[in-house]
Amino acid sequence: MPKRVRTAVFPVAGLGTRFLPATKAMPKEMLTVVDRPLIQYAVDEAREAGIEHFVFVTGRNKGVIEDHFDRQFELETTLENRGKTAALAELRKELPSAGRTSFTRQQEPLGLGHAVWCARDIVGDNPFALLLPDMVFRANPGVLRQMMDAYEQHGGNIIGVEECDPSEVSSYGIIERGEGPDTGFPINGMVEKPKVGEAPSNLFISGRYILQPEIFSLLSEQEKGAGGEIQITDSMKVLMEQQPFTGVKYDGKVFDCGSKLGFLTANVIFALDRDDIRDGFVKELRKLDLGDHL
Ligand code: G1P
Repeated sequence: MPKRVRTAVFPVAGLGTRFLPATKAMPKEMLTVVDRPLIQYAVDEAREAGIEHFVFVTGRNKGVIEDHFDRQFELETTLENRGKTAALAELRKELPSAGRTSFTRQQEPLGLGHAVWCARDIVGDNPFALLLPDMVFRANPGVLRQMMDAYEQHGGNIIGVEECDPSEVSSYGIIERGEGPDTGFPINGMVEKPKVGEAPSNLFISGRYILQPEIFSLLSEQEKGAGGEIQITDSMKVLMEQQPFTGVKYDGKVFDCGSKLGFLTANVIFALDRDDIRDGFVKELRKLDLGDHL
């Protein structure tokens, strides 16, 4: 049995420049899909997968994320006094237990690989999950849960992948797939943001990873790569020479909520998925008479 994955790392230091001015003073991870912030989706997905410790790599202007995962006595008292017990129970249920969150800062925006490296002392010599909170999934069971199943079988490092349009490969990390079922196949290579026509496949790394702690020493020596940033993909490529990497083409679909289109689409589909919102929402959309736009 591989060593259990108890810790998840959430890099939340990004500047959110694609969402200005909304993200000028507010972290992009607090943008909401329907009524939940992006970061909450990632934390819920991790919890469903059995994660017990939640590590946030933050940056400037991100204090509100820490507040979001803390108790709010004034709010709770008000809800209690007003008899709003369902809302109160929901708030409490979503909170990680005391002592099960850690916050560390990435002091300079040097790239995703550097952000992950900033969590090295907290994670220690343990396997960990890495979740990029911009990427929100419509999947049941959750994508990390599906990846944990593969981890229990294969151990090593696990990467979640999904198909993209061949014209979009240069926005992502792309893998080279070996023989095996979608639930777990060997990864033979990977490249960060290849040019269209030079990618080994159209399977992209969609922001969910299970990694072994040996990645940290590789990250500490990692030179800058694509976009002049320290890339996690480049260190994973080196780790691939020493340890197995398994891909999971999970059952589900990602919405890149760091982009306006992905974010808007996620809001529509997540609203339509909600029993308490669907009927009213469809009624309002019909009233808009979108014929000309669709
Ligand atoms: C990062 C990763 C990339 C991955 C992507 C998913 O890129 O480096 O491999 O495909 O996240 O969102 P970024 O979006 O930070 O440029």
